[in-house]
Amino acid sequence: MCGIIGVVALPGKTPYRPGVMVYRGLKRLEYRGYDSAGVAAVYHDKIIVVKGKGKIDDLEKKLGLSSVDGLTIIGHTRWATHGAPSDVNAHPHTDCKNEFAVVHNGIIQNFRELKQLLISKGHVFRSDTDTEVVPHLVEELYKTTGDVYQAFKQAIKMIKGSYALILISVHEPDKIFFAKKDSPLIIGLAEGFNLLASDIPALLEYTKKIITVRDNWIGYITPKEVFIEELDKGVIDWRKYVRIVEWSLEDATKSGYPHFMLKEIHEQPRALKDTFYGIREDVAVAEAVKLLLDAEKIYVTAAGTSYHAGYYYSILSAILARRPIIHFIASEYEVYAPTSSEKDVLIVISQSGETMDSLKALRAFKENGVKVIAVSNVIDSAIPRESDISIYTRAGPEIGVAATKTFTTQTLVLSWLAISHAEALGYLTRNEAEELRDWLGKSSEIASKIIAWNESYALKLSEWFSSRGNAYYLSRGIGVPVAMEGALKMKEISYIHAEAYPAGESKHGPIALVEENYPVLFVIPNHPELEKLILGNIQEMKARGAVIIGIASEDTSLRDQLDYWFKIPTTHWILTPITHTPPLQLLAYHTAVKRGYDPDKPRNLAKTVTVE
Ligand code: F6R
Repeated sequence: MCGIIGVVALPGKTPYRPGVMVYRGLKRLEYRGYDSAGVAAVYHDKIIVVKGKGKIDDLEKKLGLSSVDGLTIIGHTRWATHGAPSDVNAHPHTDCKNEFAVVHNGIIQNFRELKQLLISKGHVFRSDTDTEVVPHLVEELYKTTGDVYQAFKQAIKMIKGSYALILISVHEPDKIFFAKKDSPLIIGLAEGFNLLASDIPALLEYTKKIITVRDNWIGYITPKEVFIEELDKGVIDWRKYVRIVEWSLEDATKSGYPHFMLKEIHEQPRALKDTFYGIREDVAVAEAVKLLLDAEKIYVTAAGTSYHAGYYYSILSAILARRPIIHFIASEYEVYAPTSSEKDVLIVISQSGETMDSLKALRAFKENGVKVIAVSNVIDSAIPRESDISIYTRAGPEIGVAATKTFTTQTLVLSWLAISHAEALGYLTRNEAEELRDWLGKSSEIASKIIAWNESYALKLSEWFSSRGNAYYLSRGIGVPVAMEGALKMKEISYIHAEAYPAGESKHGPIALVEENYPVLFVIPNHPELEKLILGNIQEMKARGAVIIGIASEDTSLRDQLDYWFKIPTTHWILTPITHTPPLQLLAYHTAVKRGYDPDKPRNLAKTVTVE
């Protein structure tokens, strides 16, 4: 959803020239959008802009983004909302006299009114973007204030919508001005230079000392100074908000893998181990269980992959804790929020903690007094910040657009929660709960085996799969959200149409599409009753000529039913998302690569969707 970055430095104090720092930072933010990019610098009392349509590396070759000179430089990588991807719509945007340059992540809702107002005052616009109103507005207000910060502040007060905004100006060449509402922004603190960026990975190479900017904060950075105030409330003592991030630079690099997605699939054993040890010590779980015990209704919401984790949780809660959970897709919150009251609990799952649909759902429920538990991968992100209790996965930064390690770690955390809830309700004895937790403790080792057993098999199967146009992903019970996750992975990166259904539902319509050689993947949890049910569904599909691909344990009773078999170790069914998802991730990955697509940058998609 657009990535922004800014560097302001003293001469000779930075590890690379600031232009190179901005370029390298943009590369690390590319997962947020990649249809166009650009940089702007204050250089010898002028604003220099270099920007264009295309991916960052192509623009670097064509235009030399990193060659821009100067000590105050901002950059942007775009995921288009207002105005098609084009050279002119690429950020940064400037005013009429080229005295101010702005990069923006978010949407300015009242840009049409502001644009009309500014046109009536003689401003000339060059792009179709909402963002371009900002430099013109600041230019207009500067005429009366004669002070960049005051003009910027007044402009921010006139803007409605969501924004992480960075502005530079020829009038104050050693400052970068910023403001934030509903889109993420972070300040990085270093010796002799300071930075701003949308996300932590962009800064890891330069500093681990960060401040997460809160909504309605506005201010500026210089090479040696930070100034922050809360709009209409006064100056912020920002030192209270400084923290050191635990992620390493390694986490934000491909470490020899051809794509982040493959690296992140392989990181799952480590991510599961860290998450397991983290959750074991986390007092927030006991607090969350207390809220669940007192709740009249429990809701769970999220978007995309995180929703699949939420759906899995709702099934597990019904099985273990006998508590039905209302699960819904975050963007549908308006249907569900009116049914909630202060006696209820909402669980919001978001790896980034910034997804706008999920944040809006959270806020709508909070207005009714609902208590909120967040499950996130990013400390201090918006969703945990606005929740009553936050539980974290410890997957490390996820840069591939398709979620992988964050899904399996989310399901680990949510399993832990459901087990603890069931134990507190007396549906599981201490020993039974411990036994299940022990399985979670083994998940790291098991995931490592599964990846080793299935990597080359997925590669081999992708030869055939990559020539398919459609596929069904079917399962029953606890396996259904895993089938949904597998289908989402396949469609979003390989562009093969893949749909998931509860297997029993497939005969109520979907089976009409099945013909000779149609791929049907079955997620087969290690559970005798489910295997029996799935056998009937496999036979229905086989009778129509489908090719059956099964993800099933070593001693599955369905072995002879499968045309292709992703073999996984026999474990407890509670681990189904952790055991059955990696083969599906690997198949989607290799199929996308076979079809000539970049799995890290699927078309039309961006990670962290900060618009509704
Ligand atoms: C799919 C994917 C998306 C995200 C969704 C929610 O591979 O990554 O569907 O799961 O955009 O993102 P978070 O979890 O950051 O709220």
